[in-house]
Amino acid sequence: MNAFLELLRKRRSTRQFTDEPVGADTIRTLIDATFMAPSSKNTRSTRLAVITDRELLGKLSTMRPSGAGFVKDAPMAFVVMGDQTAADLWLDNCAISATVLQLAAESEELASCWVHVHGRPHTDDPADGTAEEYVRGLLGTPADYRILCLVAVGHPAATHKPHVPRDEDREKVIYFR
Ligand SMILES: Cc1cc2nc3c(=O)[nH]c(=O)nc-3n(C[C@H](O)[C@H](O)[C@H](O)COP(=O)(O)O)c2cc1C
Repeated sequence: MNAFLELLRKRRSTRQFTDEPVGADTIRTLIDATFMAPSSKNTRSTRLAVITDRELLGKLSTMRPSGAGFVKDAPMAFVVMGDQTAADLWLDNCAISATVLQLAAESEELASCWVHVHGRPHTDDPADGTAEEYVRGLLGTPADYRILCLVAVGHPAATHKPHVPRDEDREKVIYFR
């Protein structure tokens, strides 16, 4: 199996990390990789925030009623944003960027997990607004920088079985011959 297919198999969402920080050079490598992602009409609308501040990670972990709690113990996270003035397809561009980021992290033998922000409520009470508004308020980023997700990254403290191709997935394909 070639190295890329092996990487795809190995990448699993991991929510437990060791205390070891992600080095500055590695963070730079991940940033560079993320911006190599394809984008609609080459609009390159993705923007990133790099968070290593422990207090901020703790606050980000409460962005949603569930699904983000583990972020408080992650060594770092990237917030993946799209400048909506740069591309109508900012959301699609962001999703590709976040995926490339996760694969790049795996290639650096780091673990990662996507935490969704866009379209999710901050709490169970709609009056408390959206997770996106909460995260933007914490970061102070411009309103035009729409937030798709956060990707937590770190050295893995848990291992998960690699993916294997599934027969049920092969049945999801329609062939026109
Ligand atoms: C669009 C999207 C949203 C996700 N949101 C969350 C999330 O909010 N919290 C979380 O812990 N995992 C989240 N995940 C991770 C998924 O739970 C995970 O990818 C899925 O269970 C498959 O497992 P795998 O990544 O190990 O293949 C998200 C993944 C995607 C692609």
